[in-house]
Amino acid sequence: MYIAKEIQTAAYLFASILFILSLSGLSSQESAKRGVLYGIVGMIVAIIATVMGKGVEGHVYIIAAIAIASVIGIMVARKVEMTAMPQLVAILHSFVGLAAVLVGFGSYLDPATQLLTGAEHTIHLVEVFAGIFIGAITFTGSIIAWGKLDGKVPSKPWSFKGLQLMNLILLVICIILGVLYNNAEGTSGMLYLGIMTAIASFIGVVLVMAIGGGDMPVVVSMLNSYSGWAASAAGFMLGNDLLIVTGALVGSSGAILSMHMCHAMNRSFFSVIFASGSGNGSGGEKKAIEGEVTALNHEEVANLLKEAKSVVIVPGYGMAVAKAQYPIYEMVENLRKDGKLVRFAIHPVAGRLPGHMNVLLAEANVPYDIVMEMDEINDDMPNTDVVMVIGANDVVNPSAQDDPASSIYGMPVIEAWKAEKVIIMKRSMSAGYSGEDNPLFYKPNSEMLYGDAKDSVNKILAFLKA
Ligand code: TAP
Repeated sequence: MYIAKEIQTAAYLFASILFILSLSGLSSQESAKRGVLYGIVGMIVAIIATVMGKGVEGHVYIIAAIAIASVIGIMVARKVEMTAMPQLVAILHSFVGLAAVLVGFGSYLDPATQLLTGAEHTIHLVEVFAGIFIGAITFTGSIIAWGKLDGKVPSKPWSFKGLQLMNLILLVICIILGVLYNNAEGTSGMLYLGIMTAIASFIGVVLVMAIGGGDMPVVVSMLNSYSGWAASAAGFMLGNDLLIVTGALVGSSGAILSMHMCHAMNRSFFSVIFASGSGNGSGGEKKAIEGEVTALNHEEVANLLKEAKSVVIVPGYGMAVAKAQYPIYEMVENLRKDGKLVRFAIHPVAGRLPGHMNVLLAEANVPYDIVMEMDEINDDMPNTDVVMVIGANDVVNPSAQDDPASSIYGMPVIEAWKAEKVIIMKRSMSAGYSGEDNPLFYKPNSEMLYGDAKDSVNKILAFLKA
């Protein structure tokens, strides 16, 4: 049974509206759940309207594929830890890229498209070429991003002199291949298409390899944007209006998010897109770290907190790993009852997801009015008695301000070192996600408290209550 073209168009329009509502819902924490629901309903409508459209055959196979993929999707989503979410997002982006490549080859070889003539034929050829190019970059770039986020590929930037020139030359070669492919008869352009796919796949790898861990948030949102454009290109090839609209929504919202990320991290949009070296680091000799590391125990930390009037907590990825937000909030309430000013300082890229820390603190019912953005709290640091850095590292690294050779140089950071006392709670002296050592640990007003964040907070809490 097929549905009429008019009904399909109306269903596509309805789904597009739901996708727009979904994006607007996702822009705030309170409406995010509603946004996700709109997205789910929109996608169900889109799938049904497409599968029931005229000319679609093999429904049994399609339904079987959807059923198997849905079961896998549900299983993966139920199992995935919050901290592994970025990896999942990255690998899903790679699927969109791969789909665009496959649709491109399928569309090029489709006998029906061979019958196109004149401008229509040229437009189709350009759609296929551009779709495969963007799709291949998205596919391999997202796999490398997944590897970096999952610790399978080193998060340190991998680059060499002349990388940009090489990318430029490869781009020019792709354009030449595009011209040859456009002039080829029948399906003989497959060779050029194949070579271009290999080059684009290689560009995807080197583009993301050149980005340091500190800049990964921008890369993930950029790949999100690329995956949208790849889907949009697939929509053009398939003549599917909804795919074009949805792809453009994802592509443009991803691009806007990338620009916000670049702004938050003081990075140039183009330097990240073209992988012109990671961040602002000059790549020269790094500053030697001076000072000594000292550590204290849980009871000493509890005593410092008892004496303090104002306390700032800087949470990071380690808080998410340890799931320490619940005892942290209990500790905060305990201190607030004693009349102390206690606030959280949130860096825009703390953790591994945009808004990661805000979501975790909201989960633990921390009131919004004590959760401050980095810009709101930095000026207050010199008037703060104790800063507790809980599982954070890169977001409090002073090298971002004073070591031009550091890969995170130029990134705004929380100026924890300006407080009277800084307590850094982590398990070891290991570097942050960017791979950069942190001179904050060696400052005279800093002390380490080693151990798992949740375990440590529980022990401090016990001394506070005693
Ligand atoms: P990181 O620099 O990743 O440092 C987290 C620290 O937590 C580590 O040094 C680790 O040290 C510690 N840790 C891990 N497990 C712990 C546990 N159970 N208990 C206590 N400590 C633990 O974190 P950050 O300061 O939040 O910075 C985020 C970094 O990720 C930035 O470089 C950012 O650019 C990047 N990034 C962010 C995003 C987004 S969108 N937010 C996406 C991708 C990448 P030990 O091993 O010594 O314990």
